[in-house]
Amino acid sequence: MPEHVLVVEDDDSLAFVLRETMSVKGYETDVVPTAAALLERLKTTQYDVVLLDLRLPDGDGLDVIPQCREIAPDTPVIAMTAYGVRQSATEALRRGAYDFFTKPLKMAELEVVVGRALERRRLQQHIAALEASREPQTGFEEFVGSSQAFIRVLDAARRVAPTDLTALIEGESGTGKELLAQAIHRQSLRKDGPIVAVNCAAIPEGLLESELFGHERGAFTGAVRTRVGRFELARLGTLFLDEIGDMPLAMQAKILRALEERKIERVGGNRRIDVDVRVIAATNQHLTRAVDEGRFRTDLFYRLQGIHLRLPPLRQRLEDLPELVNAFLERAKQRLSRATVTLGAEALQCLWTYTWPGNVRELRHVLEGAVLLSDAVILPEHLPPAIQKPAAQETAASLARSLDETLEDIERQMILSALQKSGGVQARAAKHLGVTEKSLWYRIKKFGIQARALPPGDDSTS
Ligand SMILES: Nc1ncnc2c1ncn2[C@@H]1O[C@H](COP(=O)(O)OP(=O)(O)OP(=O)(O)O)[C@@H](O)[C@H]1O
Ligand SMILES: [Mg+2]
Repeated sequence: MPEHVLVVEDDDSLAFVLRETMSVKGYETDVVPTAAALLERLKTTQYDVVLLDLRLPDGDGLDVIPQCREIAPDTPVIAMTAYGVRQSATEALRRGAYDFFTKPLKMAELEVVVGRALERRRLQQHIAALEASREPQTGFEEFVGSSQAFIRVLDAARRVAPTDLTALIEGESGTGKELLAQAIHRQSLRKDGPIVAVNCAAIPEGLLESELFGHERGAFTGAVRTRVGRFELARLGTLFLDEIGDMPLAMQAKILRALEERKIERVGGNRRIDVDVRVIAATNQHLTRAVDEGRFRTDLFYRLQGIHLRLPPLRQRLEDLPELVNAFLERAKQRLSRATVTLGAEALQCLWTYTWPGNVRELRHVLEGAVLLSDAVILPEHLPPAIQKPAAQETAASLARSLDETLEDIERQMILSALQKSGGVQARAAKHLGVTEKSLWYRIKKFGIQARALPPGDDSTS
């Protein structure tokens, strides 16, 4: 394929000479006369090099160099400047031109400069191709952290990845559950298949079934065409059931059935469809507690945890903080083009004393914000207010803890006294407390109260 040169020159005779010279060298050459036409062209056509006259009828060529770099970052721009205007040549280089030459044109020089730019472009393309064909990424390289607690989870995840086992990932918000699910998928035998995520908490209960299993046309009002569900979409890949702790009980039963039988039925359909998927589930709740409280089916819980991975919250692995801070600072500096920003000692102190309820995600956002706000050194004032005042934060946290405990104490006392009054009959005690029998039963279990009467029948879990 001949290399493709774009000449930006409004002087007709000069444009003609340039085109001829380039064509003789075997390059395919287009000519445009204005900056506007140049930018339009770059958006639609790939060029290997641009020869740019700096004096154009619709503006200064210097000004369009950065735009060219943005539209076509891999296409070198060579500036053509008037003889003796050394300054604009330097300025062109500063703004991102690859090289320049001065008018009047010396053809030999022109050929050398263009040849060199093309050579470099060929090399760059070669490197890019090499990189693309490199070993596929393992999926785990994005994780930062080397604390024991964290490494143990990663190790277990690495081990389970190439098996077809179901994995259950537990962890507070922002601890990296989704990142881990992605990594497991990329290290699995199904890595060439899709990974399809469903956020069970974000989909209204009424739509969840059709979202997961799809529906046939006319299955319900508004089902104007057949829809393929996420189980089917994930065929030969991984289905990531996020926030599974929030899944309604009725749906839990259907998911269990799909997992056991490896078949699903679309809503309103009568055909059983094979689905070959691996399931990874995640939740920010303690699923065992949800099981205890009857909000999560025991059988599904066991079916999901082929392996149980629990990502520790950041406050329980603060030894990872320096590594994470460094990594996120570097990423933010690069992305926001602020290479010189550094973290001040006082701000670092604030990061240490904070409790990080939003975990790694919160840390990342805080650092990105700080890099953006600071000019050179990150100071406490560049951090969100809650993090600036470590002492106040701590007091608020301990206050919140004791408030919770106090409330639980009061609740326990009220239940005990109601049970006493009702002679241990839960139905009567529940009525007295103004709660449902089931809810009273959960609380009795939660507080470990020894009740004489048996727990009420629970029909919704079967
Ligand atoms: N150990 C880690 N190293 C590097 N980045 C991490 C790590 N853990 C989390 N992150 C980053 O933190 C952010 C949040 O991660 P992720 O979305 O996986 O969390 P999550 O546990 O699914 O949170 P949520 O419960 O809120 O959905 C992402 O940008 C992720 O890349
Ligand atoms: Mg998530």
